[in-house]
Amino acid sequence: MNTTFPPATVGYGFAHRHLLGIEPLQPGEIAYLLDQAAAFADLAPGEAPDRLAGATVINLFYENSTRTRSSFEIAAQRLGADVVNMDVATSSVKKGETLIDTADTLNAMRADFLVVRHNQAGAVKLLSRKLDAHVLNGGDGKHEHPTQALADGLTIWRHKGRIDGLQVAICGDIRHSRVARSNLLLLQKMGASVRLVGPPTLLPRSYENLGARLYHRMEEGLEGVDIVMMLRLQVERMAGTFIPSGREFFRHFGLDRERLARARPDALVMHPGPMNRGVEIASDIADDLDQSVIREQVEMGVAVRMACFEALSRHRASPPLRAA
Ligand code: NCD
Repeated sequence: MNTTFPPATVGYGFAHRHLLGIEPLQPGEIAYLLDQAAAFADLAPGEAPDRLAGATVINLFYENSTRTRSSFEIAAQRLGADVVNMDVATSSVKKGETLIDTADTLNAMRADFLVVRHNQAGAVKLLSRKLDAHVLNGGDGKHEHPTQALADGLTIWRHKGRIDGLQVAICGDIRHSRVARSNLLLLQKMGASVRLVGPPTLLPRSYENLGARLYHRMEEGLEGVDIVMMLRLQVERMAGTFIPSGREFFRHFGLDRERLARARPDALVMHPGPMNRGVEIASDIADDLDQSVIREQVEMGVAVRMACFEALSRHRASPPLRAA
């Protein structure tokens, strides 16, 4: 692996109490997290230092999740923390408890870290203001999903030896995707050029203001790119009809062999999961280990979450004073 980027980090390079998104992070802080995560990725599971020994991590997921929740859980456990998964479906939230009351309850339990997934953009930030614990965003509405973008960034860096100067195409349902937003922010901060590809209904023009180039034809958007990142159609966030059908979507925007041939021969194929095979991606491409790094994205997800816990834990020595 070429390790010219990120540069070897000296000392501690992360200045936040919470991880709410990629937007507030400086490129040097992202490089620090990727660098730490790369080190964690090279350790066997039992070799990780128990930096979170004695700490309690609570996973509070108001939306479904397979990989993100279990990956936060595994990451915390590898660092020696106790982890509690709050099952929102059977919690007092279903009895009408407000987010603020939930925050008060969690404060009383003295959790050290709270990982939150919520369908409202901004809910995670609100909790971070009310809680003594460090808050990590596990995905908030259509807003941000920072640890997914970090996992994707680390996967890219490990394969390409850099992020700077790469051409990345993010394709599909951009409008409803927090993964697209966080990746766009991270990749641009780290010097990549980002193209967004999708039908006009799923690709708001406003993304141009964020510095991305927009394409409505896969054949053009994929021309010569180093990375092809596919997204799921987030039907659960669609109010109304945005596409005629899954089959029709695949005909125009699905990743098949012919379209992938437009990208560079050594292009990586990525997907944050969960995948809908035959809707946004052909099954044989998803499973083709010569180009698809989808499994590795999941593996790197654990390493970056360990790095995020570790970076935030350095603030634990001086917790905020509680109001009397
Ligand atoms: C993504 C999410 O929840 O935003 N999944 C994930 O965390 N790996 C993308 C999706 O649900 O399609």
